[in-house]
Amino acid sequence: MASFVAERSLPNLQVVDLGRVRPHELRSLWDREVRMWREKLDWDVGGAIAALERAVDRGGLSGKAVRYGGAIVAYAYYVVEGDRGVISGFVVSPSFRDPQLGITMLRAMLDDLDRRHVRRIETQFICFDAPWLAACFEEYGFRTHWRDSLRASLSRPRPERSASNQVVLLPWTAWNLSEMAALMQDAHRDGADAVMNELYRTSAGCRALLNNIVRQSGCGRSLTEASSVARESASDLPAGFAIVTEIGRRHGHLAQLAVAPMFQGQGVGHRLLAHTFSRLADLGLDTLSLMVSHGNERAMALYRSMGFEPTYRFPVFSRQL
Ligand SMILES: CC(C)(COP(=O)(O)OP(=O)(O)OC[C@H]1O[C@@H](n2cnc3c(N)ncnc32)[C@H](O)[C@@H]1OP(=O)(O)O)[C@@H](O)C(=O)NCCC(=O)NCCS
Repeated sequence: MASFVAERSLPNLQVVDLGRVRPHELRSLWDREVRMWREKLDWDVGGAIAALERAVDRGGLSGKAVRYGGAIVAYAYYVVEGDRGVISGFVVSPSFRDPQLGITMLRAMLDDLDRRHVRRIETQFICFDAPWLAACFEEYGFRTHWRDSLRASLSRPRPERSASNQVVLLPWTAWNLSEMAALMQDAHRDGADAVMNELYRTSAGCRALLNNIVRQSGCGRSLTEASSVARESASDLPAGFAIVTEIGRRHGHLAQLAVAPMFQGQGVGHRLLAHTFSRLADLGLDTLSLMVSHGNERAMALYRSMGFEPTYRFPVFSRQL
C-alpha cells in the first residue's frame, strides 16, 4: 500500500488555502456533489451547499484546495473543536483520477491540523468515486471504519411482532435533551459508533449530536411529528428514542435510534421503528434511509428484519495522536 500512496510531486499541481478560492471556482464540483448525493443517497444537499458557498465567500472555512491547469480540481475543509479536528468535506474531481491529488491535499491539511495541536482527527464526509481514499488515509495513520447507507420503502408491508406494553411511545414533545443524551451515551457504550466518533462516548458529546440534528438541521429538516420517545409504563424511565429528518423530497432519514441497555433485546427498537414507518407513511413520504456502522450487528439485524437494503458503502476515518 505504501508505494501506492507514496508522495510524489505532480507537475502544475498547486495547493492553496481555501480562503483564497472564490465560490464560482467551486461551482462545477458543487453541482456534481448535489447530483451524486441525490443519485446515491436520495439526499438533497442543495441547502448545505448554499451554506458552504456563503462560508467560502466570506473566507470563513479552514481548508485546502488544489489548482490544476487554472481550475480547482479538489477541495477539503475542517473544523477544530477543542483539541479535536473534524474533516467535514473532501471532494475530488472525477476527471482527475490520479490519487496523488487527494494525497497531496490531505498532507497539506494534516500539516495545518498538526500546527493547531489537535489530539484526534475524525472525518465526517462521503467522497464519491475515490477508491484509493482508504489507502491514502491509512498511510497517514488513520483507522478506517466502514459505514453502510440503507434504505427501505415505506409502502412495503412490515412483519408484525407482538408489542410488549412494557413501554409507551410518546411524541417528541415529551423528550428532554439531557435525559436523551445520557441514554444515547449508555446505548452506544463500547459500540462501533463510539469507536469511530468520540462524541458518542460522553453525554455532552451526545447532546451536541442531538442538538445538531434537532436544532441546527445538520441532517436535513427535523421531522419531530414522526419522531418519538419510549418510556417504561410503570416507572416513566426513558427506554429509547427515534429521531427522523427529511433529507430529500419524500425521503425520510433515521438520524438517531437508541434503546437504553436495560431495555435492549425486548422489542423496543422494533416498536420505535415500526411507529416511525407508519408516521412517515401518514405524512406521505416514500422511503426511509439510515446509516449504520459495520460491526453493529444488533442494529443491522433489526434493520434487515424491517426490510432495509444497502444502497451505498463508504469509509470514515479516525486518528488518535
Ligand atoms: C440497535 C438497537 C436500537 C436495537 O434496539 P432493541 O430494542 O435492542 O431491538 P429489538 O429488541 O427491537 O430487536 C430487534 C431485532 O434486533 C435483533 N436483536 C435484538 N437483540 C439482539 C441481540 N442481543 N443480538 C443480536 N441481535 C439482536 C433481532 O433481530 C431483533 O429482532 P427479533 O428479536 O424479532 O429477531 C439497540 O440495540 C441500541 O440502542 N443499540 C445502540 C445504539 C445503536 O446502535 N443505534 C443504532 C445506530 S444505527
